[in-house]
Amino acid sequence: MASKSFKKKTNSKRSSSKSAASMAFSKHLYLRRIFFVISIILLVCVIVVLGVSSNTWNKLSSVNHSFHSYGYVVNEFPHDPNAFTQGLVYAGNDTLFESTGLYRHSSVRKVALRTGKVQILQQMADSYFGEGLTLLGERLFQVTWLTKIGFIYDRKNLKKSEQFTHEMDDGWGLATDGKILYGSDGTSTLYQMDPQTLKVIRKHFIKFNGQSVRYLNELEYINGEIWANVWQTDCIVRISPNNGTILGWILLQTLRQGLIAAGYNGIDVLNGIAWDSNNNRIFVTGKLWPKLYEIELHPAKKQYNNDVIEQLCLP
Ligand SMILES: *[C@@H]1O[C@H](CO)[C@@H](O)[C@H](O)[C@H]1NC(C)=O
Ligand SMILES: *[C@@H]1O[C@H](CO)[C@@H](O)[C@H](O)[C@H]1NC(C)=O
Repeated sequence: MASKSFKKKTNSKRSSSKSAASMAFSKHLYLRRIFFVISIILLVCVIVVLGVSSNTWNKLSSVNHSFHSYGYVVNEFPHDPNAFTQGLVYAGNDTLFESTGLYRHSSVRKVALRTGKVQILQQMADSYFGEGLTLLGERLFQVTWLTKIGFIYDRKNLKKSEQFTHEMDDGWGLATDGKILYGSDGTSTLYQMDPQTLKVIRKHFIKFNGQSVRYLNELEYINGEIWANVWQTDCIVRISPNNGTILGWILLQTLRQGLIAAGYNGIDVLNGIAWDSNNNRIFVTGKLWPKLYEIELHPAKKQYNNDVIEQLCLP
């Protein structure tokens, strides 16, 4: 009995120390499990955070780098419906300079952005058809249709100060990066010109999918890119000034369609791009359009295949 009870005791002692060990073990296991679960939760959190931030990063970067984008209207302003817009420049302080075409109606004007009111009007001689316009320092450069003659105006009063001859085949669009002039002549050529001599420094032939992008019209230098209206279309093509490659297409079909739906049947094509570099505002309008739009670029919801772009943007 005694030994038995002793045995029992030792047994129970043993078993109790055994169960203590197993308890410690299961406690250890329990802690490890908790640790494991916490690690998994943390890992999932890290993945989610990384995923979300890379997603928003993708979204942000695709705003700038999407090959196909459309213009989302953030503001609209009145625009002289008799202005056959051929050149448009933003000049700070909510002020635009605009060049208009049509014989006997051609002009250079200073326009208040918010009201569309013409503040200064410089009428051109009847024999000239005004085209592209750009502002370099204090001087506005303008080219004219079907001639190689251009004019320079003083931005303060729009007094004509000089006349020049350029080397392009015709005068369509003008832009500047602050150093050189960019020009278009209705072909697929994008010219770079010396603003002092008006001599051509470089030329790029703009191609999309092997096809020439003809009818390059009004130009604007925006954030290191050249943007060009393609005449007869609702498309703006973004071009690298360094090598002439196409950086993207901006589809603005809804603007003209919206105006026509609102009963403005006399309007002509989309033309005129201006950029407020300080506030990164982009403005577009058209020939005889009653409105001027401030737009933001949004990536197109679908990727267009090249055939569709050719149909919409290459006349
Ligand atoms: C900005 O434009 C307003 C209204 O046209 C004018 O009164 C003001 O003098 C201009 N400011 C500058 C700095 O040119
Ligand atoms: C052309 O220049 C742009 C920058 O303006 C660059 O992103 C692109 O890779 C260049 N393409 C070629 C073919 O050199």
